[in-house]
Formats: sequence, C-alpha cells, structure tokens
Amino acid sequence: MASNDNRWLMRRFDLSRCSAPLVGAIVGSMSEALIDIVAVSDYSGFSRWQAVAPPGRVVGVASLRPIIPFGHDVLPPPTPAVNPGAPELSLYVEPQWRRRGIGSRLLTTVREQIAEPRLVTDVAAGSPGEAFCLRHGFQHTRSRRHDLLTYCDVHQAWLGELVDAERPGYRLTHWTGSLPDTPGAEELLRSPSRPGNAVLTAADTDGDLAAYAVAIVGAVSQPRARQYGSVVLPHHRGRRLGLWVNAALIQRMREFHPHINEIETFTAEDDLHLSATRKHLGFHPLGRTHLYELALP
Ligand SMILES: CC(C)(COP(=O)(O)OP(=O)(O)OC[C@H]1O[C@@H](n2cnc3c(N)ncnc32)[C@H](O)[C@@H]1OP(=O)(O)O)[C@@H](O)C(=O)NCCC(=O)NCCS
Repeated sequence: MASNDNRWLMRRFDLSRCSAPLVGAIVGSMSEALIDIVAVSDYSGFSRWQAVAPPGRVVGVASLRPIIPFGHDVLPPPTPAVNPGAPELSLYVEPQWRRRGIGSRLLTTVREQIAEPRLVTDVAAGSPGEAFCLRHGFQHTRSRRHDLLTYCDVHQAWLGELVDAERPGYRLTHWTGSLPDTPGAEELLRSPSRPGNAVLTAADTDGDLAAYAVAIVGAVSQPRARQYGSVVLPHHRGRRLGLWVNAALIQRMREFHPHINEIETFTAEDDLHLSATRKHLGFHPLGRTHLYELALP
C-alpha cells in the first residue's frame, strides 16, 4: 500500500507507538475492512463500480459493457461468440492489493446489482484472471484470438481501392449512433444516423442485408476501437463482401472518430476465414484469450 495511505491510517487511528511490522499488519487489515465498493456513473452509460480504500484511493474497478446487442438473429453459426443478453465483465485490482478478496467483493456487488441471467469475461490463458474465474464457478466456453490494426500501417490509397471496388448488385451503406438501445443490424440501418459510439458498415442487395461489420469507440482518451464482425450472410458468401464492409468500416471509423488510431478485433479460434480476411487488411495478432461465462441464479 502507498505510504500516504499508511500515514493517513496512522494519523486517523493513532498507531504512532506501534512497531513497524505491527503497523503494517494492522494497516493492511484495517484498510481492507475500510474498503468501500461504490457505483460510479460512466460517460458511456456502461455500469461501473470502484473499490475505494481510505482516504479515497481507487484500488479496483469492475465494469460491464453490453456485448454486440444486435444481430444474433442474422448471425450464422458459429459466429455468435456468446449468448445474447450477457454483458461483458471487466475486473481489475491494483497488483499490490490482490489476493485480499477485493476482486471477489466487486464481483459480488456486480452480481447483486444486475438483472441479466449471465456474465461473460475474457481472460488470458493461465492468468490470475483465469484462476479467479475458475474459483468463482465461471465455465470456459471458447477461445478467441485478438488482432490489432494500427492506422499508421494502413496504406490509405490501397484501402480506398478496396472500398471503391464494384461488387455487382451490392451497395455499401453505413450507420452511426449508439448501440445499447437498439436491437438488430437491419433496424439500425433503417434508422437515421446520429452521433454516438458506434459505426456500422453494411452491404445490401435491393435493400436485403448481405454483410456487415461494426466498431465501438470509448472516450476520446481511448484511442482503440473494438470491432465485431465482419459477418456475411449465408447466401452472399464467396463474393468478398466481408473484406469490402471491413475495409469500409476502417475508412469510416477514421472519418467519424479521428481520435481512433487502432482497432482491436476478436475471432473464434476456429474461424480461419475471418482470420485470413483480417490478416489481408493488415491486422496483427495480439494474443489469445479464454472466454468464460457465469450463469446467475
Ligand atoms: C483477477 C483479479 C481481478 C483478482 O482480484 P483479487 O482481488 O486478487 O481477487 P480475490 O482476492 O478476490 O481472489 C479470489 C480467489 O481467486 C483466486 N485467485 C485470484 N488470483 C489468483 C492467482 N494469482 N493465482 C491463483 N488463484 C488466484 C483464488 O482462489 C482467490 O482466493 P484465495 O486468495 O483465498 O486463494 C486480479 O488478479 C486482476 O486484476 N487481474 C488482472 C485483470 C484480470 O485478469 N481480470 C480478470 C477479469 S475476470
């Protein structure tokens, strides 16, 4: 624990006459007992909780983000990585505060305060996060690979040619807005674009959706967007529509959110076709994670 926090507790409870090891032990257990778990409002509308140690130091954070809350009706198997309606849990405890039950307290608070039937989380294989998930009864559902595209590696003229290439019978469309309130890709495309945290690009033929990809951005201080898809509907495969909508998404993201300088994607490990499309576009492997799911009573 930081010495400022120690000093605060020593002043608050007059530990000046205790030996240093005793102060350490007392301060450690007192500060754990004094940790509050508080809900915080978030700019993006995501649910967030903080573990706050006296005198106000944030030592752990839990947050929930919705998982692509649209499109499951049109996603062909095995594309849906998780069950619909399961928010993604992200949990972090400062290294020097770990193994003191803070992660468990944050998880308990999240469980008590949400109505969804399950939670999912993504952890690195063999990490403390995986041990934590196993301890709390999460089930391993699948493995994903993460890839990253950095805008400075993208040759803009080449990207422009990919986007401008004709796909006879198909046209590109796009939509911008915020995802959490709206259900399906088709409905989104029918609704007017507005400012928001998401960009959706799609290919259609006579108004029928054929392929799409979506990316979500965070705060202006976060330069990395998260991309889902591309998804190509079964009757439209073999026409390189996935590459087309993904190239258009990369281009559009920069137009609408100039602070973004990289895009992270997630792919089921067995989806070799999607991995090949990503590689072609210049995404580089970032690592592999295990997806865990917790059913809530
Ligand atoms: C995962 C993380 C949030 C756990 O926080 P924490 O406050 O240390 O968790 P807790 O003290 O409540 O641990 C509860 C139990 O999980 C298991 N566990 C947690 N960390 C572990 C580790 N490094 N090795 C083995 N088991 C571990 C243990 O069973 C532990 O109980 P115990 O200490 O009585 O043995 C923390 O390590 C972290 O921030 N890691 C980096 C981010 C991350 O991986 N997040 C995962 C998202 S779920």
